[in-house]
Amino acid sequence: MAGKFTDSALDEIRARVDIVEFIGARVALKRAGASYKGCCPFHGEKTPSFHVNPARQRYHCFGCGEDGDVFTFLMKLDGLAFMDAVRLLADRAGVALKENVDDTAQVRNRLYALHAELAAFYQRCLRETRAAETARKYLADRGLSDDTVKAFGIGYAPARPRDALVKWGEKYGYGTDLLVAAGALVPPRDASRPDDFYHRFSGRLMFPVCDRQGRVVAFSGRVLDPKAHPAKYVNSPETDIFIKSRVLYALDKAAAKIVKHPRREAIICEGQIDVIRCHACGLETAVAAQGTAFTEEHVALLKRHADSVVLAFDGDAAGGKAALRTGALFLAAEIPVRVAQMPEGEDPDSLLRKQGAAAFRDLLENAVSITQFQVAALRKAEANPDSIDALNRVSRGVIEMLAACSSAVQRSHLTEEAARLLHLPLSAFEEDLERHREHQRQQAAYRASFKAEEPPPDDFAPEEDAPPDLDAPPPPEPPSRTEFLLCEFLVEHEHDAEVLALVEKHLPPELLRHTFTRAVMSAVMGQHRDGGDKVAGLGATVEPEWQTLLGNIIANKQKMMSARERTPLDAAKGLITRLWIDALQQTRDRLDAHAAESDMPRLSLSAQIHRLKSEPWERACQLMMLASLADPAMAYGAAAGRDASGAPVSAHEADSAYAAADPGGLPPSESPPDEMPD
Ligand code: CTP
Ligand code: MN
Repeated sequence: MAGKFTDSALDEIRARVDIVEFIGARVALKRAGASYKGCCPFHGEKTPSFHVNPARQRYHCFGCGEDGDVFTFLMKLDGLAFMDAVRLLADRAGVALKENVDDTAQVRNRLYALHAELAAFYQRCLRETRAAETARKYLADRGLSDDTVKAFGIGYAPARPRDALVKWGEKYGYGTDLLVAAGALVPPRDASRPDDFYHRFSGRLMFPVCDRQGRVVAFSGRVLDPKAHPAKYVNSPETDIFIKSRVLYALDKAAAKIVKHPRREAIICEGQIDVIRCHACGLETAVAAQGTAFTEEHVALLKRHADSVVLAFDGDAAGGKAALRTGALFLAAEIPVRVAQMPEGEDPDSLLRKQGAAAFRDLLENAVSITQFQVAALRKAEANPDSIDALNRVSRGVIEMLAACSSAVQRSHLTEEAARLLHLPLSAFEEDLERHREHQRQQAAYRASFKAEEPPPDDFAPEEDAPPDLDAPPPPEPPSRTEFLLCEFLVEHEHDAEVLALVEKHLPPELLRHTFTRAVMSAVMGQHRDGGDKVAGLGATVEPEWQTLLGNIIANKQKMMSARERTPLDAAKGLITRLWIDALQQTRDRLDAHAAESDMPRLSLSAQIHRLKSEPWERACQLMMLASLADPAMAYGAAAGRDASGAPVSAHEADSAYAAADPGGLPPSESPPDEMPD
């Protein structure tokens, strides 16, 4: 923080700025009781869950959990720093601010000064010291010219004497405390040798990392003698002026070039040497994440300058995976992303050196859409890419990626491309994609219904002061939506003998994943069998975190009874079938995607899932009796060739099973939700 405002000044601003009017200028708000609501600007949604409360002068989104006041609203939406948001609003409210430069501001200013001086020191060492001979030779061998070295401020960190940096600090007035705060010095490990500071970058080739304004905020040091240290690169730790996810290497140089590019297109590389090489070859729109994977914050930062990006990642398996992960982030931010197809084993640096700028420009011009790249990559990972099974996996992966794309225009464009590349009918592909998106929406709404139970947190602490508590355990996962519906249903029909008999017969308790659902089912069934008032007693047995859920279910009972359209028996059949499908899908998902012996069980499970979805209850429930969840091979045995009624299961059916499949309910409470592979 550059300064500090008094709390009374902040309160004064909050009091004078009408939060409804202020947010209302950016978000369409409608009155809803004492507060106002609209569609949340922080996450895409169609039904409003974003609430603004004028009495409390705060907003809260029940969909994504964003929460705060006028200051955070500006910070989040416009990417302003807290201080800038305060200044802007003070101006608007006519509140005079007295800024006292506080301790943190002083530390930050001293860190900026130190980094500038340190960068100059390392550059001098590279030019002038004999010890830097290896470094100079290395640069010459890698073909990095003096101009480039100068433009990127490349330097050398002396290895000797051991206390070179401490001495330098003494001379220029930078104490060891500050050098430690900057991460350049590592404090002594051995208490008996209190002066034994270690120079983190000792003997390395130094690359200063600059922020958007071109101020040096960190360093990346490349090893010159691999025997000296195993890590190829060592980076500054995060400090008050360096947050990795908010710094893009060379963005200070590239930003002006990106906005002038005809497509406002940025080149994204993996390594800083790649970026340097690109710039040296006249491709000055190149940037890279620095010492970390690309993040949403990086994307947001880039989005201020770029309208599209092309990924120039290393031509190896790791580069391919990184391209897919990074590509998904850009798609989600509505930025078109293409991928340059780097020859195997090359990276931008090596390719530019070997083949020159023209060849590399060609590669960039011919970069393919992220979808085309993904199809090729997924097919390549398949031993037998033309098998039905492989096709299922590939299209599933593509659909997951496309579902993340928030622009409808872009999505439809990429969907067409994917269908064409996979030789699938567009309509089938679109249908699957829509189903997947609908499922995601349901999950989001369902999760939101949990959040809505908790009152919004009361106090706002500025982000800097409240880093997320990474050690806190994640909140427990609620039961899947189907299991939740089952609980509602069972409680509603706790006295319907016919319904409960059906459930008992066709729904083994092992099918249920969640402790809450199992508790409800066991109470309802126990009561059905032995009498008593077990459902009413559930409150005493259910874990504390599920009490609200139980309360909702019991309170909703009345409402649901009038809302149900189908007969209870039909509803029970629907739920039971759905739960079996979920369980079979989870069994299928657990199969090793790459093991050949999984292919037959998977095919069989897909066929069973398909049948459960399409067949009438009488046949579906015969299938349930045969299906074995624990052992997919047995399930295969049960359904191989013949189903319960003797009808053969054809390969074609297994194929279309995918078209009807969706990824099932929420993941079980004990496993995290699926993530992009990395
Ligand atoms: N990186 C890192 N720490 C490591 C390895 C890599 O911070 N131990 C970061 C660096 O920013 C590096 C980038 O990841 O630039 C890409 O890594 P890699 O491809 O291995 O580096 P190159 O740029 O190819 O480096 P060089 O050509 O110098 O070998
Ligand atoms: Mn590389």
